[in-house]
Amino acid sequence: MAQSNHDFIERKVGWLIVFTLMTVSIGGLVEIVPLFFQHSTTTPVEGLKPYDPVRLVGRDIYIREGCYNCHSQMIRPFRAETERYGHYSVAGEYVYDHPFQWGSKRTGPDLHRVGGRYSDQWHRIHLLNPRDVVPESNMPAFPWLDRPVKSDDIEAKMNALRKVGVPYSDEEIQGARKALEGKTELDAVVAYLQGLGTALKAGKAAAPVVEAAPAPASAAADALGKVFFEVGSSTLPADAAAAVDATAKFLQDKADAKVDVTGYTDKTGDVEKNLELAKERARAVRDALKAAGVAEDRINMKPPVSITGSGDNAEARRVELNPGS
Ligand code: HEC
Repeated sequence: MAQSNHDFIERKVGWLIVFTLMTVSIGGLVEIVPLFFQHSTTTPVEGLKPYDPVRLVGRDIYIREGCYNCHSQMIRPFRAETERYGHYSVAGEYVYDHPFQWGSKRTGPDLHRVGGRYSDQWHRIHLLNPRDVVPESNMPAFPWLDRPVKSDDIEAKMNALRKVGVPYSDEEIQGARKALEGKTELDAVVAYLQGLGTALKAGKAAAPVVEAAPAPASAAADALGKVFFEVGSSTLPADAAAAVDATAKFLQDKADAKVDVTGYTDKTGDVEKNLELAKERARAVRDALKAAGVAEDRINMKPPVSITGSGDNAEARRVELNPGS
């Protein structure tokens, strides 16, 4: 009997399709439906707020412009990812996202933790013409975003989201149009980007806390020393002495050796200023080396290096001392 049923299914293509679809659907439902009710996928992480009107409009523009075709918003829990982007994404961060912007297509970097990484000004320049801040970029320019936002459907949008569970209050919806007054599409997209992935940092106990390690410094292994500067400052920090002394000693011991001095900076804020600051910091370290008795012709001043830092990344505010020749 079983044999003939099998025969029947295999010989009738129509039925084979029907039964295959049935089996796959049941399997799918068993996997997917429990997720609708699981605490970890339905409870927002602590500190997560629904998108305010400006960010909501920014999000819609992001979708309209197809940014998601090149940028996913889902950081996987792998070391390479958490070192580059920050904490891996957790389901509770997307509770108010309808639809979410996950994906696996990454022509550009993942943007889930881009919030707060660059200044608003950086984002503006980058969106109007990416090449102005990232010379090698192949991201398209979006110059038309510099126009007023469309605000006449914002209440309808917020009401629709409220129906699917986003807790907007009546006042928020009534005040939405006012919040959008005078805003450009550029403002909205930048506000959206600056909020991305920041809830997890604000939330305290809710998320599993695994701090991302700072970006590995390329030449760190054989660096003679590193000097970490305060944000925005080129004043030599008090603890620079260790690195300076170690370098002076190294040069004393090796008569033919030299030292390479490299200032680092991240890509936040005004790029020109950052590079200038990195140079000033390198000069401060050079002066300290000279004060420690190192002859000027043994010090090679290297061009400043701009790295992709994440948030308040001390590695991006360092001057590194390496054996040179
Ligand atoms: C054709 C693919 C493509 C599209 C479409 C695209 N981008 Fe990009 N994006 C890139 C690439 C490549 C980079 C890396 C180079 C750079 O920084 O410009 C990038 C970088 C970025 C960065 C900097 C990320 C970081 O961590 O350094 C932001 C922010 C960004 N894009 C936002 C957007 C927004 C907003 C849109 C839609 C308006 C968009 N992108 C559309 C390809 C794209």
